[in-house]
Amino acid sequence: MSNFIQECLAILQQPDPALKAKLALNLRYNRTCELVPVAIIPNHPARPKHIKDVQPGKVSKRKWGSEEGRLALLHAIAHIELNAIDLAFDMIARFSCTSPISPDWSSEFCEDWLRVGQEEAKHFMLISSLLAERNMKYGDLAVHGSMWDAATSTMDRVDARLAIAPMVLEARGLDVTPPMIKKMKQAGDIKAAHILEIIYEEEIGHVAVGVKWFERVCKVLEVQPKSHFKSMVSERFTAALKPPFNTEARSKAGMQRGFYS
Ligand SMILES: [Fe+2]
Repeated sequence: MSNFIQECLAILQQPDPALKAKLALNLRYNRTCELVPVAIIPNHPARPKHIKDVQPGKVSKRKWGSEEGRLALLHAIAHIELNAIDLAFDMIARFSCTSPISPDWSSEFCEDWLRVGQEEAKHFMLISSLLAERNMKYGDLAVHGSMWDAATSTMDRVDARLAIAPMVLEARGLDVTPPMIKKMKQAGDIKAAHILEIIYEEEIGHVAVGVKWFERVCKVLEVQPKSHFKSMVSERFTAALKPPFNTEARSKAGMQRGFYS
């Protein structure tokens, strides 16, 4: 019988982005899988050696007017999706078998985050193949070196991780993606716009999974979800939550205004 946690760890340890996505897409879970915690989960997921990490202000400018600027934007999205794959499998490896996720919940927790991780892998592959059509691949440009900071600052508590990863960062994705789709269309890049539409629809589901588990954990911890979310954000997230918020998509994901306004 396979240890599902070990298989999630193998995804985190795979440095090649395409192989990482493939491993994620091929992974299966059913309730006969074993869930045995692993002793050491790496602080950082594996990355190819040639990837150049730089400070956020030093990445290529993403100007809409030029093909080059839009490619830089697509490359940045590939980087976000790659990190999102690792965040989903890190969520399972780190938190599925530890309190406050009860043994009764572990299977459902694994199923939910596996689905998220596989959709993130699909997003990465979609963007990668679009880049390939345009003679580019992930790693050709420098990437935002602090993308994993939110994971590093929430390694000790599932409530903190759920608040920051899906409910701050992915919810932020819901705010910024519709204007991006609009600008891609205005620039005549219909193919990129269509991929962003797929990503956008599925990210609503990812935020919803985050909200679902955050609320469950809050019940166990006997705390009020909205105020606990706010205290996790002020404790673990350095920036402020930035409006304008996409209230419609956030509500669809079960994230009412009281969480963020
Ligand atoms: Fe995604």
